[in-house]
Amino acid sequence: MSNSMKGMSLITLEEFSPEQVQALLSQAIELKRKKKARIFPRSLADRNFCLIFQRPSCRTRTAFAIAAADEGAQAHAMSPQEIRFGSGESIKDIARVLGRMFDGIAIRAYDTPLIEEVAEHAGVPVWNALTEQHHPTQALADFMTLQENGIALPGAKMAYVGEGKANVVTSLMVAAAKLGVELRVVTPKGHHPEPSLVDRLLGWRHNDKAKIVVTSDMREGLLGADAVYADMWVPMEGNWDIPAMARDFRGYQINRAAMAMTENPRAIFLHCMPSQHNLETEFARKHPEAIEATDEVFDGPLSRAIDQAENRMHTIKALMVSTV
Ligand code: CP
Repeated sequence: MSNSMKGMSLITLEEFSPEQVQALLSQAIELKRKKKARIFPRSLADRNFCLIFQRPSCRTRTAFAIAAADEGAQAHAMSPQEIRFGSGESIKDIARVLGRMFDGIAIRAYDTPLIEEVAEHAGVPVWNALTEQHHPTQALADFMTLQENGIALPGAKMAYVGEGKANVVTSLMVAAAKLGVELRVVTPKGHHPEPSLVDRLLGWRHNDKAKIVVTSDMREGLLGADAVYADMWVPMEGNWDIPAMARDFRGYQINRAAMAMTENPRAIFLHCMPSQHNLETEFARKHPEAIEATDEVFDGPLSRAIDQAENRMHTIKALMVSTV
């Protein structure tokens, strides 16, 4: 069976086989090595990509732009005011037109069905650059970071500490089920992922080592972890009762004591970012009770958060090269 990913869109990562996900990670590691050696294969020369970001982004948008440039392609950023999905023009019409202009389309949107509809009609690969429900390109970078730190994926134990219904952890669960990772979702009661989602993901897991454990107990979740993954407790967009959410997450901060709960002195720290880990943001100065990690951990010797952010670009490049 061909393992080719040519023409594939990335919506939730469920579309990709475990072998294809692993191939993307291996290719990203190779592309990173080449970039460090200043080798640019430019396998996407003369291609054009459309970046539509309906929501703010630092990492993902720059990752798509730089990945395209490194491979000799051009990335064209379109504002939400220019691309009026379903308000001034039907999603189907916009998708068909963009598919004639571009060789691939990255979209950051609110809801996944918008991206599914564009993918259905564009005729070129469409990449989900984050929705409320999914963040698949983030999960690729996260597991690449584990792998480049010598942590073999089948059997790896990763503890995600944060909102259990968030897009980031949903995509981590999808990837973990594919790659044979034991993912512990450590989150307060009331923030657990939907049990039906967990059951569904484990129902088609391809590797016996894949596990998804949902717990509110920090000790249970962190013991033996190879990696501890923190996320913000409160989304950056929207109107949230921040003090109430911070109260829910009290005791879930990733600090030295939390890292010690792994009983693994080599456990690495991951974060998808943006992060609140000191008082250098307006958000944290206003809500210091919502700081999810300490500086000591975030900037400590076992933190791989900045590598992980860099790896967004290498994995997105692998995705572009493989699917276009
Ligand atoms: N982690 C992440 O998606 O970052 P941005 O929102 O900056 O793209």
